Amino acid sequence: MISVKELSVAYGENQQLTPALDKVTIEIDSGQIYTFIGPSGCGKSTFLYILAGILRDYQGIVTIDGKPVDPQKQRIGLILQNYGLLPWKNVYQNAILGAKIKDQPADEPYVRFIFQQLGIEDLLGRYPKELSGGQQQRVAIARAFILKPDLLLMDEPFSALDAITREEIQDLFLKIWKQHQVTTVFITHSVDEALYLGSKIVVFSPAPGKIIEVIDNPCFQLENLRARDEYYRMSKQLRKMLSEEWSKQ
Ligand SMILES: Nc1ncnc2c1ncn2[C@@H]1O[C@H](COP(=O)(O)OP(=O)(O)OP(=O)(O)O)[C@@H](O)[C@H]1O
Ligand SMILES: [Mg+2]
Repeated sequence: MISVKELSVAYGENQQLTPALDKVTIEIDSGQIYTFIGPSGCGKSTFLYILAGILRDYQGIVTIDGKPVDPQKQRIGLILQNYGLLPWKNVYQNAILGAKIKDQPADEPYVRFIFQQLGIEDLLGRYPKELSGGQQQRVAIARAFILKPDLLLMDEPFSALDAITREEIQDLFLKIWKQHQVTTVFITHSVDEALYLGSKIVVFSPAPGKIIEVIDNPCFQLENLRARDEYYRMSKQLRKMLSEEWSKQ
């Protein structure tokens, strides 16, 4: 379980501090997918940097299974909003990087399965600058999945993909998740994505981000979700909540 208590973050120096998160408190249960949704600039990426151990300058208490965040010790799969690929490594090297750092023996059939499912098997020798945004994003997804993490943190991981590819990769993610039920924090701008992928949906306020509500998603894993009344009801409710928050800005 991840426990976040009274987490506040501000960027800048002494007199010029701009708050990004304001007393965020949440318990993230193991084995669930939490989709986080909120307006641009409300602090979603900042929240993820803290869970990933990248940003350490904050107030409050953040623990994973009772211990402080330590990316050296915990197996955290991370997909950053800007993909986070190393420009001097090719696609293959970037994709296996996380697993390699952790000295994880290569599960070659699984690695090939991921490459093939993400449609990057023909790009393995290329360097990030030779890839489109969507291709880079798929390499970042491959890297996070290949690590087989205990905690998966994803910052708008499918945002650069076309609609069809996005739906395919959403399903791939759910398929992989069902096997290991990895605890996942998934940041998105999309109400549809939040409803399709999240077992829980966390709604953030505009900046500085506060949690308005944590919703048990009744739509999670419903067959034929997008054709259901429940989906329309929840979609409407979430949109209303977000637009009300927007108007307070
Ligand atoms: N390094 C930084 N220095 C100063 N301000 C920053 C820095 N990084 C982020 N901010 C500010 O902190 C706030 C939260 O940023 P953050 O990137 O966490 O938002 P976000 O919710 O992820 O936005 P988006 O949906 O656009 O990705 C914003 O106002 C942003 O301008
Ligand atoms: Mg962001």
